Amino acid sequence: MKFLTSGKVKDVYDLEDGNLQFKFSDRVSAYDVKFNDEIPKKGEVLCKFAEFWFNELDIPNHFVRRISDTEIIVKKMEMLPIECIVRGYFYGSLVERYNNNSIQLDNVDDISLAEKLPTPIFDPTTKAEHDVPITKIDAIKFGLVSEHEFDWLAKTSIQIYNIMLAKAKSAGFILADLKLEFGKHENELFLSDSIGPDEYRLWLKDDYTVGKIQEAYDKQLLRDWLTDNGFKKKFDDARASGKEPTPPSIPKELVKKMTDRYEKSYELIVNQKL
Ligand SMILES: Nc1ncnc2c1ncn2[C@@H]1O[C@H](COP(=O)(O)OP(=O)(O)O)[C@@H](O)[C@H]1O
Ligand SMILES: [Mg+2]
Repeated sequence: MKFLTSGKVKDVYDLEDGNLQFKFSDRVSAYDVKFNDEIPKKGEVLCKFAEFWFNELDIPNHFVRRISDTEIIVKKMEMLPIECIVRGYFYGSLVERYNNNSIQLDNVDDISLAEKLPTPIFDPTTKAEHDVPITKIDAIKFGLVSEHEFDWLAKTSIQIYNIMLAKAKSAGFILADLKLEFGKHENELFLSDSIGPDEYRLWLKDDYTVGKIQEAYDKQLLRDWLTDNGFKKKFDDARASGKEPTPPSIPKELVKKMTDRYEKSYELIVNQKL
């Protein structure tokens, strides 16, 4: 087993038999800033959610098996350089992009924060240090994917979102949006990477109110705290002057709240104790 790379969340090992081993850490990042504090149990929730969703979804995927509370084995893929984002609700970076006319939304003339979109949209980004939205035309022009692949990714990602939305709904949650990654193996596409609360926004139906910031059962909780306390602005200012932002330490109560919510969403959706 050879250490390959350490991502924002996972440590990746090459098993040299065509498989990789993922170790899910308790690390957390937001707005592309890595924090020094860890969120206890986050790795375990992400790992077990990955197992759950890969088994739940009837789509060819890279999952082989889970080998511990925080480790899974997957088939090694050639990753596509595109993040497949599906949005079902008007939230996150979509709001700013819509307000400054950098994205059009079909059949929408007036929409409030957190409102459901008329239909889920495929809204991919590049897969770079700082991901940027990319149109179908550019994705093909820059050779990220073929036209056939793009159309398949759009259709399949929306299909997956709808299946997950229904599953979340039956557990009392709203799945607001979702990020998927796909890989290629012997010219076939497989759903890859991971699926869990770092890849989607999840709201409790009982707390849901249009027009407001939602109570998040995912990483958004940290993003909201950063914004409310002026850190998001500090990050942007640092970057604008060519510096790397420095992460503040995360208050103990927020760490606890995040652990509790990660755990609660797992137990309600999977219907099993962590
Ligand atoms: N089956 C796979 N084969 C090869 N690479 C993969 C596979 N699934 C996911 N990856 C890649 O492994 C990395 C996982 O580590 P992660 O902590 O998510 O890193 P990142 O900081 O890039 O998000 C990602 O870059 C992801 O694209
Ligand atoms: Mg990742």
